[in-house]
Amino acid sequence: MSNNENMGFWAKFIKAATKANDLEREDEVMLDHNYDGIQELDNELPPWWIWGFYITIAISILYYILIHIFGWYGQEDEYQAELVAHTEKVAKYKAEHPELFKTENLVAFTDAENLAKGKELFATKTCTACHLADAGGSIGPNLTDDYWILGGGFQNIFNTITKGGRPGKGMVAWESTIKQEERQQLASYILTLRGTTPATPKAAEGDLWEGTDKKVEEGVDTLEEGAKEIIKEVKEVINE
Ligand code: HEC
Repeated sequence: MSNNENMGFWAKFIKAATKANDLEREDEVMLDHNYDGIQELDNELPPWWIWGFYITIAISILYYILIHIFGWYGQEDEYQAELVAHTEKVAKYKAEHPELFKTENLVAFTDAENLAKGKELFATKTCTACHLADAGGSIGPNLTDDYWILGGGFQNIFNTITKGGRPGKGMVAWESTIKQEERQQLASYILTLRGTTPATPKAAEGDLWEGTDKKVEEGVDTLEEGAKEIIKEVKEVINE
């Protein structure tokens, strides 16, 4: 292998890049120390490694000039760019899933599947321990009548389940232990219990809740208010 002219291009290239000694010439570069039989060859640093080393030095100089002197691009820019991109992503996600960020946007489920899930959760999440299986009430109030301590209607019921009742009454906030969708299913199920007849209904507590669902309630309110306005106006006209 010592005759360069007989070597192919690839072999020549490898030779130039590694400057490896031919095996038969190892004696010439063998150092004279010997550690328990382990000997060392005084090989030259392989040129490919040195090239890499020079390239990193060149890149570091270029990097220093472009980034630190000319402020061409930096971690701060990178951070800001990512921040903008992610803020946009979050905004888009929020716009697409308003119900996850604003519970005011939630409405009661009315489909059988979600109501069945609500019923199941009412038993498995220990609600029955205080409200009884037929929701007639024991430690907790009756959930089947029209009287509500903390307000009836989907939004109020959902809110009570989420945030709990008045301090010290025993109704804890379930938001950390029951998922939002499940709280929604529970509240929807509770709504369906209205007017059912529990075995031993607890006496009514709280105020008579006349609204039914928030949407309907709003409609009734405006209608009633509209009617009142008209009556008021008619009376004024008569009195004049
Ligand atoms: C440790 C007993 C206890 C458990 C368990 C419990 N509750 Fe209650 N719950 C109460 C009490 C007590 C109140 C009344 C709170 C108040 O007076 O502020 C209440 C109130 C409520 C109300 C509002 C009633 C009203 O009149 O405004 C709803 C709705 C309700 N609970 C649903 C649930 C659901 C759903 C679960 C299961 C996830 C549950 N509760 C588990 C004790 C309990």
